[in-house]
Amino acid sequence: MLREIELKRGLKDVYIDKTMVSFIDGQVGKLLYRGYNIRDLAEKSSFEETTYLLLYGTLPTRRELEEFDATLRSNRSLPKEVVQIIRLVHKAHPMDVLRTAVSAMAAFDPETRDNSLEATRRKGIRLTAQAPTIVAAHSRIRQGLEPISPNPKLNHAANFLHMLFGKEPPDDETEIIDKDFVLHAEHGINASAFGARVAASTASDFHSAVVAGIGILKGPAHGGAAEEVMKMALDIGEEDRSKEYARKILDSGGRIMGFGHRVYKTVDPRSIHLREEVQALGEKKGQPKWFRILSKVEEVMRPYAGRGIFVNVDFFSGTIYHLLDIPQDLFVSIFAMGRIPGWTVQVMEQYSDNILLRPMLEYVGPMDLEYVPIDQRG
Ligand code: CMC
Repeated sequence: MLREIELKRGLKDVYIDKTMVSFIDGQVGKLLYRGYNIRDLAEKSSFEETTYLLLYGTLPTRRELEEFDATLRSNRSLPKEVVQIIRLVHKAHPMDVLRTAVSAMAAFDPETRDNSLEATRRKGIRLTAQAPTIVAAHSRIRQGLEPISPNPKLNHAANFLHMLFGKEPPDDETEIIDKDFVLHAEHGINASAFGARVAASTASDFHSAVVAGIGILKGPAHGGAAEEVMKMALDIGEEDRSKEYARKILDSGGRIMGFGHRVYKTVDPRSIHLREEVQALGEKKGQPKWFRILSKVEEVMRPYAGRGIFVNVDFFSGTIYHLLDIPQDLFVSIFAMGRIPGWTVQVMEQYSDNILLRPMLEYVGPMDLEYVPIDQRG
């Protein structure tokens, strides 16, 4: 007799291991990286420092941070063959290009086959440094422009904007992107981190795990939502159309992108910071309407709070990128660039006490059918 099976569809509320990396309390909207509140990190840290914290487990001393930052700055260049591959696939979606380029990086990384923790961390640092160069190079190539070399004088966020637009960004825009990277750097066992850990659990290599993460992040239920939110805002166009537009989506059984979360049953703490940035940046750029459009959509979604559906990180991030003149189809790649430290540390944690991640499916199809030779089938 078959044993009774308890299905956990979507792995909802299933704990698969212990972690020392992130703590998420979805009921009160609390997120900690290595014990530090995301609120403090967003306000006081930098992406470089937060990456160090995630990868080494403690905040760096000034000297450690300087050395770490120098390592990041000196690892930004891409092998020319990878730039050539980007040229070959430049018509694809930026996430497909990023996934392809990261996969290709495995052929050039000196430690691809070394799954030790130290080598994995070094690979993660290199890829964290290189990902913006990939995204920016592709953006330029598809416009018929030449990629811009990384500028070692600029920090991670400023260098990305410099390589994307060909000019040094103002400090306030660098700070916004830096904060955005901090807020996206890690988020526990979300779908893409889970995918990366599944790859690592077979003792596959770091680049394969990150390629899995990028492929999973792309989906609109995960990182792809920011792009969809901005499409919605553009489609709405004017503040007074917001409510009717949002209601129409909901009445036809659709979802408002940038709302809802598997873990947060209150406001996503990351969205609080991005909300402030959208409002301030919109005013500065003379485009306050996007914030107003989104605020009206939020009003329509208010009754959904009773069902645990609140604003998430993707609701405001896309508008920030839009206000910075970043094309919509780059939004999720920016999320991916920020998340590489998170995937790295998740893979390191998986390797450090590995167990094959291999759940079960309950078979509900026909059984014991008789095999009929092909010429006797009706
Ligand atoms: N708008 C309207 N209704 C929603 C929404 C939404 N955005 N999200 C969930 N619901 C409803 C859903 O229709 C369902 O209703 P019912 O029980 O009547 O069928 C109920 O809430 C539960 O939805 P679910 O899909 O079972 O919940 P989940 O925990 O599996 O989904 C989610 C989480 C993020 C996939 C979902 O909320 C969603 O699709 N949101 C829109 C996409 C989005 O913003 N994604 C970004 C997530 S945060 C950043 C990241 O992780 O990358």
